Amino acid sequence: MKIAVTGKGGVGKTTLTVLLGRAAVAGGYAVFLIDADPDANLATTLGIEEKIPPLLGFRDVIAERTGGEGGLVKLNPRVDDIPDHYSLLKEGMRIMVLGTVRQGGSGCACPQNSFLRSLLIHLLLEREELVIVDMEAGIEHLGRGTAQGVDALLVLVDTDRRSMETAGRIVQLAREVGVSRVLAVANKVRSASQLERLKKELPASVPLLGYLGFDENLELSDKQGFPQPESNLIQQVKEIFSSLIKEIHSGGRNA
Ligand SMILES: Nc1ncnc2c1ncn2[C@@H]1O[C@H](COP(=O)(O)OP(=O)(O)OP(=O)(O)O)[C@@H](O)[C@H]1O
Ligand SMILES: [Mg+2]
Repeated sequence: MKIAVTGKGGVGKTTLTVLLGRAAVAGGYAVFLIDADPDANLATTLGIEEKIPPLLGFRDVIAERTGGEGGLVKLNPRVDDIPDHYSLLKEGMRIMVLGTVRQGGSGCACPQNSFLRSLLIHLLLEREELVIVDMEAGIEHLGRGTAQGVDALLVLVDTDRRSMETAGRIVQLAREVGVSRVLAVANKVRSASQLERLKKELPASVPLLGYLGFDENLELSDKQGFPQPESNLIQQVKEIFSSLIKEIHSGGRNA
């Protein structure tokens, strides 16, 4: 299963990625977490102290695989050995940090783009693990080739109105690139009435998969720079995870 997590900045993408990863490990799955946010903080959230160098910083590896800078760039460079070499094990999950593509204009055929695209295709279409990708506040990483590998795109919303606007844009983009299933998750919910309001504001085609309550310990530890503590939310996340599996296995598409 391949899951991508997205939503407005600060809505809780990294938190949900880590919590879902933990729920999946508890359920016996082999889990691979990918930090695809240019402003990477998955490792910190997991309490990994050493800095994980972003994959896209390994320019010589990328140059060697893609045929080098300046020359003709290979469009399908070999990447199948990359995830095992450039990931780190934590809490029984493999973690990999992608980094940022610096480019002049999107869609350029620079070596980094070609490498990243092949890697995402490999991770989403060929890896055996349950892969969860912590994306930026958009789905720029997903193109037509990779979107079909995503079994579910989770869009987070919270009570900040802008999160709903961002969600609307993401849903639109997801349709354009051909993601088959888009599901919403509400985060930082403080009351039943908030949850009801969020449900009503969601685009009609996007079901609410579940929600996470507001957990003060989470916010506090993050502000103080501590890794994410064992959260009270784990039960809610387990419910989200099992609903997610049901949705995916039901085979229904909504995008
Ligand atoms: N359910 C929750 N209850 C309380 N605080 C939460 C909850 N979910 C996330 N937070 C807090 O909200 C902040 C943002 O969360 P997180 O870093 O997961 O968001 P993000 O969407 O990944 O942000 P970014 O766009 O910066 O990557 C953090 O301080 C986190 O601890
Ligand atoms: Mg994040």
